[in-house]
Amino acid sequence: MRPSPCFHGASDLCLIFLDDQAKRRYKKEPSHQRYRGAQKGSRSKTLAFPRSPQRRRACAEMAGGGLAPSNGDVKHYNGRVTSFVIVTCVIAATGGLIFGYDIGVSGGVTSMDEFLEKFFPSVYQQEKTASGSKNQWCQFDSQMLTSFTSSLYVAGLISTYFASMVTQAFGRKSSMLFGGAAFLLGSAINGVAMNVAMLIIGRILLGVGVGFANQAVPLYLSEMAPPQLRGALNMGFQMATTIGIFVAGLVNYGTGKLHAGYGWRISVALAAVPALIMTLGAIALPDTPNSLVERGLRDQAKATLQKIRGTDDVEAELQDMIEATEEAKKVSDPWSSILRPEHRPHLVMAIAIPMFQQLTGINVIMFYAPVLFKTIGFGDSASLMSAVISGLVNVFATTVSIATVDKFGRRILFLEGGIQMVVSQVAVGAILGTFFGDAGTGKLSPGLANLVLALICVYVAAFAWSWGPLGWLVPSEIFPLNIRSAGQSIVVGVNFFFTFVIAQLFLMALCHLKSGLFHLFAAFVVVMTLFVVFLVPETKGVPIEEMTLVWKKHWFWKKYMLDDRITPSEHRRED
Ligand code: BGC
Repeated sequence: MRPSPCFHGASDLCLIFLDDQAKRRYKKEPSHQRYRGAQKGSRSKTLAFPRSPQRRRACAEMAGGGLAPSNGDVKHYNGRVTSFVIVTCVIAATGGLIFGYDIGVSGGVTSMDEFLEKFFPSVYQQEKTASGSKNQWCQFDSQMLTSFTSSLYVAGLISTYFASMVTQAFGRKSSMLFGGAAFLLGSAINGVAMNVAMLIIGRILLGVGVGFANQAVPLYLSEMAPPQLRGALNMGFQMATTIGIFVAGLVNYGTGKLHAGYGWRISVALAAVPALIMTLGAIALPDTPNSLVERGLRDQAKATLQKIRGTDDVEAELQDMIEATEEAKKVSDPWSSILRPEHRPHLVMAIAIPMFQQLTGINVIMFYAPVLFKTIGFGDSASLMSAVISGLVNVFATTVSIATVDKFGRRILFLEGGIQMVVSQVAVGAILGTFFGDAGTGKLSPGLANLVLALICVYVAAFAWSWGPLGWLVPSEIFPLNIRSAGQSIVVGVNFFFTFVIAQLFLMALCHLKSGLFHLFAAFVVVMTLFVVFLVPETKGVPIEEMTLVWKKHWFWKKYMLDDRITPSEHRRED
């Protein structure tokens, strides 16, 4: 028998891959002991022995809070963490930077006078005449202006579906290459845009780039990375997103000061930098061994595996990969499976969590912070600086989540973050309502304007350690293996759809609801916090083979759990 790596979290499905000796040892392990060990994050002993690396990876990902490996006795395949794996980290970070830069750049650009004067003269006129006398809530309301921001997400939403086909048929590298190239072209067209049509075409190409990059890069990472680096890499992607948003804020601040008429061009064209890195990276890097095996290119897969693991002896891992690929082909259609009653909680989470993440209103701040700050009376430069400050808070608060999520759990972060967001949103709404007035003709004193900025930073921090990273992490750890890919696609699609809705409707909503808009988002956060209280179970440290048990014990979700779905620990109890 080939020695098999041992993982802390194996799914029900993983049991299929246990060899006989491993099965016997697994069944002897008292489940309560293992489960408690997992809950406390303590070191636990021999657990399950899925033989395929893909199963093990998926099991470890799900069990360990979204990509963490076992904290039990992990035996690795031959090999070491090579510089090659470090390069994949850079590729991942670049994918996140692209996503983040896009999120951060449009708000700054749409608040620049030269940009508005050239492409949206009516908005520019509105803005100039609004000062002091007219209703400032509506100064930026233009469907054309919002379509500049939101068109990217419609394109991303549609292209993610095609990306999944390209990624499967032609490999992860092809999608990254295509995404990077579309992104490069989009940033070039935007940089030299002469009219609104060119602007929107550029944005659509950027959207195609993000759609492909967001679909392929995380997959590329999860297949290239050794299991013990997986958790850090997953969170690293979100971290890079926040860095991208922050850098975009800084660039806008710098170009906003130029006043030479072309500052906005530099801002949008600089998106080419991360895109170029990803495109060149995709050309230089080989595809993942898993994808090569899937496409029948076993010799290439072996050569790649030898290169990324830094050893010639990769036979065991390669063999497991081949077996796993054969097995994966037997799994029934995940799209019909996800609609079955026993997957109802998973389906609800796949839709509700990304939807709620966007209904926190975070992208109002990410996209439109400079516009918002201008509305409440900051000058041009101060508005752009405010976006830089909130961007920096976003980056640092994300590290808080990385440090605490596996220690204190998901629910506490969700709940604390939710309460903190509601308090700050209600306060911002109240200050603006009182001092700025619904007529939008009042003026905030510099002290109050700074207080609003501080409260917005409190809100951003709360998001960055709760719904920001958890909005991606929690769905990824609740899906059983057979519906994971389909579930993940739903999460991405729902996220992009609601990003589009917020981007498209915000400026109009600001014009109509005024300060009440902040109270509307606060109400959404109350609803989603109650959703967490009643419907989201704690998943910290729960091994994937116990995840069904989590739903079975849940006061509401248990009714969807079929009795014949017995978890491995229940098997052991029966024994
Ligand atoms: C969200 C983005 C958001 C970003 C802010 C991500 O998790 O999906 O929509 O702009 O966080 O940091």
